[in-house]
Amino acid sequence: MEYKKYPQTQEIELQLNGNIEKIAISPWTTLLDALREHIKLTGTKKGCDHGQCGACTVLVDGKAVNSCLSLAVMQQGKEIITVEGLSKGDNLHPVQQAFLDHDAFQCGYCTPGQICATVGLLNMDKGKTPDEIRDLMSGNICRCGAYANIYKVIEEMKQKNVQGI
Ligand code: FES
Ligand code: FES
Repeated sequence: MEYKKYPQTQEIELQLNGNIEKIAISPWTTLLDALREHIKLTGTKKGCDHGQCGACTVLVDGKAVNSCLSLAVMQQGKEIITVEGLSKGDNLHPVQQAFLDHDAFQCGYCTPGQICATVGLLNMDKGKTPDEIRDLMSGNICRCGAYANIYKVIEEMKQKNVQGI
């Protein structure tokens, strides 16, 4: 039997945080591994690596996605924003600032994913009630239990009518 030969690596181009990143990766490399291991942007965290914790959440075309479940090759032509890309220099995104103001993190490991999920939520016309906010954020697990303050952030962003990105 003849086995199909798969390329070890291929060059891809990602639109990441307003820049173009060219990297050579295997076709099966996840977006999470491309970000952390190849591009060395380690703000995005690896928790479960199985789509269950939300630590790896980034924004793709404005939508919050689990980067551990997305292949990097499939993200070409889309706009990817990680937690590093939300601030403009020293100016934090309002959601990042609100996380600081409300002390919405303890160890901070889940925080980049929580911030990106919050921005993704603000990009949608959803999250109008506390129950809806809890439901929309339920894919993001915080082992320190900072949920109460994270919800305060989202409620404040909603009250102030802050837009995502
Ligand atoms: S690392 Fe992706 S969902 Fe947990
Ligand atoms: S702040 Fe520690 S896991 Fe959320």
